[in-house]
Amino acid sequence: MFVSATPDVSMNRRSSRTTLKLWASALVGLLLLAASVGCYDSATGDANIGDPINFKLPAFPETGSNAVQLFTEMHYQPSYRSQEEPRRLPPEGSVPITGAEVVYTSLADYNANPPKGGDSTLGQSLYNINCLVCHGAALDGNGPIMMGFNYNSALPADLRADGTRRSSDNDLYAYVSGGGRMGLALRFSGRATQSPMPEFRRLLTEQERWDIVSYLRVTIGQP
Ligand code: HEC
Repeated sequence: MFVSATPDVSMNRRSSRTTLKLWASALVGLLLLAASVGCYDSATGDANIGDPINFKLPAFPETGSNAVQLFTEMHYQPSYRSQEEPRRLPPEGSVPITGAEVVYTSLADYNANPPKGGDSTLGQSLYNINCLVCHGAALDGNGPIMMGFNYNSALPADLRADGTRRSSDNDLYAYVSGGGRMGLALRFSGRATQSPMPEFRRLLTEQERWDIVSYLRVTIGQP
């Protein structure tokens, strides 16, 4: 009795599994056919391979409320890429909770308040990421960007030079924020920066820039 019942059950299972496989491959076949020859409306989920083959996606209801989409490239997947609408933007006129950064219009203004100070160890790792490529590990203006490359723009400054060492911490902060001495001077005169150095006020937080200034000062000293 038991012996004969067991094979029956497994037979049933096997055959239902086979049927499932058949259905699945038929469905995949249809989907592929729809993708290659038929028309598929990605907005409504309608797939039409001409009469009488006409069915409506989603084909796999157990996957939730999303219509199964057919697309030939991952590029057209129904997800939002970074920086793409819709983005949740802060309300107009919002400022960071730390307050908006004051935009100074002269080097004297930058020097009106005492320097904030920073963490030179953090500053060094920030320097390695953001500055080393141009100014070099030795701060000599000879970073990897200079190697075997016809660099026909302003050369990265040698940060060990007297001119830089004589600069106050606030000056250094201003140069880092404004894209170098030249970049900052151009901004003060209302022109766009021509310096190859990026304006780091757009890239690093105030504190990160102070951390870098602290690293520069510790490394280059002051005459
Ligand atoms: C793409 C290359 C590049 C990168 C990256 C770069 N700089 Fe510069 N930097 C320059 C060039 C070129 C100059 C000279 C032109 C100028 O002053 O605008 C300069 C000038 C400076 C000066 C002015 C020196 C002086 O006394 O005149 C400072 C300070 C400075 N850079 C610090 C930094 C720091 C700190 C970073 C990283 C946060 C950095 N730079 C990233 C290219 C770069």
